[in-house]
Amino acid sequence: MTQTHDIYTLDTQHYLPVFKRYPLILDHGDGAYLYDRDGRRYLDFLAGIAVNVLGHAYPPLVEAIARQAGRLIHCSNLYYTAEQATAAEKLVKLSGLGKAFFANSGAEANEGAIKLARRHGYRLSPQKSTIISATASFHGRTLATLTATGQPKYREGFGPLPGGFSYVHYGDGDALAAAMDDNTCAVLLETVQGEGGVHVPTRDYLARVRELCDAHGALLILDEIQSGIGRCGHFFAYEHYGIRPDIVTLAKGLGGGVPIGAFCATDSVASAFGPGDHGTTFGGNPLACAAANVVMDTVAAPDFLRHVGDMGDYLRDGLESLRAAYPGRIRDVRGLGLLLGLELDRDGRAIVDACLQEGLIINCTAGNVLRFVPPLIIEREHINTLITTLHRVLAQIA
Ligand SMILES: Cc1ncc(COP(=O)(O)O)c(C=O)c1O
Repeated sequence: MTQTHDIYTLDTQHYLPVFKRYPLILDHGDGAYLYDRDGRRYLDFLAGIAVNVLGHAYPPLVEAIARQAGRLIHCSNLYYTAEQATAAEKLVKLSGLGKAFFANSGAEANEGAIKLARRHGYRLSPQKSTIISATASFHGRTLATLTATGQPKYREGFGPLPGGFSYVHYGDGDALAAAMDDNTCAVLLETVQGEGGVHVPTRDYLARVRELCDAHGALLILDEIQSGIGRCGHFFAYEHYGIRPDIVTLAKGLGGGVPIGAFCATDSVASAFGPGDHGTTFGGNPLACAAANVVMDTVAAPDFLRHVGDMGDYLRDGLESLRAAYPGRIRDVRGLGLLLGLELDRDGRAIVDACLQEGLIINCTAGNVLRFVPPLIIEREHINTLITTLHRVLAQIA
């Protein structure tokens, strides 16, 4: 077996150093737990950043992937597969939209959505091409999606960037109204912001965004890459708000860990694309779609979504109890379902490190927001362990 220190050496010598990594080599997982090479157990409240919605090594998912791998892993999108057709049907039914397309990641799903919106706008007028997104948003790392990302640190040094993008303050309907005109082809928003620090919009704000889009003939693209797939207690977070987008994008949890992204659009918007206008080699391959079919069947079940809502309430109560115990250190608790954030009065890295020492995996985003995006299968006992551990860690930090 390769020695642990050799793995660190091999990786630092050969892997592009774009990730600020923790000193942990993961080996396998089971349910809500991950294990390192020495068999040490970690409670996972990150789930691969909102990916492993069914936890680790979920038997029906493992079986479906193994079965599919033994039949057909990949074939060209020049041919049909039952797995892809079924996955598209499920996604269309769940979203209430008209057509689905499968990519391999969130950035690719958003990239495709942006292309579709541009082509749709172009059919109305060649000038109808501008895209408005929000401050503190995150939409991916390709050139178009990092340009849509409303955080300058992700864009710095990568110019020239694609044109036609601008940003308004998330949650500010007046600012959006002032920024929109008839050349706006789309507004792109996360239904709940994740990377930017867990920001939940009001019902009025999203209703106003929908109205403004309709008034200007612009499309509403909701990025549900982090907030979708049951994470917020409905299959799509927008179901909390009584609105429907023209395009929705998904990835992360959709394959339960197998890479797959998707966008869904209304039939009339989707008709802006014909053969040759978009494509992918790997996207929607039968292996990824077989995984996505298990995830969608499992997560969309009413009992499963009720469980997410219940666990979300229970976790929020636990976080509120921490806030009551450490009022100076915790500024806010917010989120929806099992996408929850706890805003600290300081940088959160030391707390994440201390939790890791205690066998608990959590994450900090936007500098000072502890973000909790556990597998959706977690139970009360896991939440109790998280809260007890956080109590201990917060008590130790001055
Ligand atoms: C809301 C949102 N959109 C897009 C992305 C990009 O997804 P990917 O890393 O799969 O390209 C992310 C990833 O964190 C995300 O949270």
